[in-house]
Amino acid sequence: MKVTKEKLHELIQTKLHRAGLTEEHAGIVADVLVHADVRGVHSHGAMRVEYYAERIAKGGINTNPTFTFEKTGTASGVFDGDNGSGHVAAKLGMDRAISMAKENGVAIIGVRRIAHSGALSYFVQQAAKAGMIGISVCQSDPMVVPFGGAEPYYGTNPIAFAAPAENEEMITFDMATTVQAWGKILHARSKHEAIPDTWAVDQNGEPTTDPFKVNALLPIAGPKGYGLMMMVDILSGVLLGLPFGNRVSSMYHNLSEGRNLGQLHIVINPAFFTDANQFKANITKTMQDLNGMKPAPGFDRVLYPGQNYDLIEKENEVNGIEIVDEIYDYLVSDVIHNNQYNHKSPFAK
Ligand code: NAI
Repeated sequence: MKVTKEKLHELIQTKLHRAGLTEEHAGIVADVLVHADVRGVHSHGAMRVEYYAERIAKGGINTNPTFTFEKTGTASGVFDGDNGSGHVAAKLGMDRAISMAKENGVAIIGVRRIAHSGALSYFVQQAAKAGMIGISVCQSDPMVVPFGGAEPYYGTNPIAFAAPAENEEMITFDMATTVQAWGKILHARSKHEAIPDTWAVDQNGEPTTDPFKVNALLPIAGPKGYGLMMMVDILSGVLLGLPFGNRVSSMYHNLSEGRNLGQLHIVINPAFFTDANQFKANITKTMQDLNGMKPAPGFDRVLYPGQNYDLIEKENEVNGIEIVDEIYDYLVSDVIHNNQYNHKSPFAK
């Protein structure tokens, strides 16, 4: 089913508001989810709404959070999300980081005690839209085997980066530190598609192509991805005094409790390091250089990092967003949720 951005936003906002979020918070969550869907990152778009609705309805996302912000230094601060919606707290935390970096050149803001915040590209793009470099990392539930290990310890702990270019363009790079994000397994499940055998392992630690048999994910590039996910956990968990490693809460374990997750935003104001206009010009040049490189056999052209999703976004803005029928039917229905996520396995359907 193809829907416009505006229609999808309205459906998501209405559903989450009916589940219990304020209209304002439901609107911000819808912004972040539609941002993901319009870019083709469906693993972090509308397909998450029913899970959020169930968690909201069961009390595991605080619908009336008291957000607090403490400026802890010239360029640092801690935003407490009171286990409200992670998308909202992460967005407001990034707003703080942007104003701080405008004045001080850099800002590092910890966003603590939040629920799942979705696709991190949304938050780093806030910084790039304000003419700054944005970096964001966050914790996610333990589901990745450490290099050489047979049981999960870290989450898919994503890293996102955006930098502004000329003419309001930007480079946006955003990845899980696993070969694939868990949402991609969920997406494969929703479409009943097989997955490559390099993404995940089953109960016995053996590679599997069946998304329903996945018991743990694999880090990117073996020990290197393993090291990056450790770095993310230290920056967004240990540094903020939150549960870390395999103590991080599971997405599906107990939907009536807050998740206490952490996220860290870093914002760098180019004007404090170089000529800001020249910086943007050189980001544009970087994009052009990369696009101008000779493609390898089997490739039409070289894309700059993130350009694959930028291209999808441009097309979907015009032609609408393809949403899986099952998800669309749920969004337009009167059902708030189907009570299907609250069980003990972190690898819920
Ligand atoms: P991905 O594997 O689809 O893409 C990773 C990066 O590579 C993207 O920036 C993408 O644009 C770039 N890329 C891919 N193909 C390319 C090509 N041909 N040319 C140039 N660049 C290319 O992304 P992944 O790892 O599946 O992550 C998806 C989303 O999941 C992200 O938005 C991430 O923030 C989110 N996520 C959120 C979590 C959370 O707990 N909040 C946990 C894990 C992931």
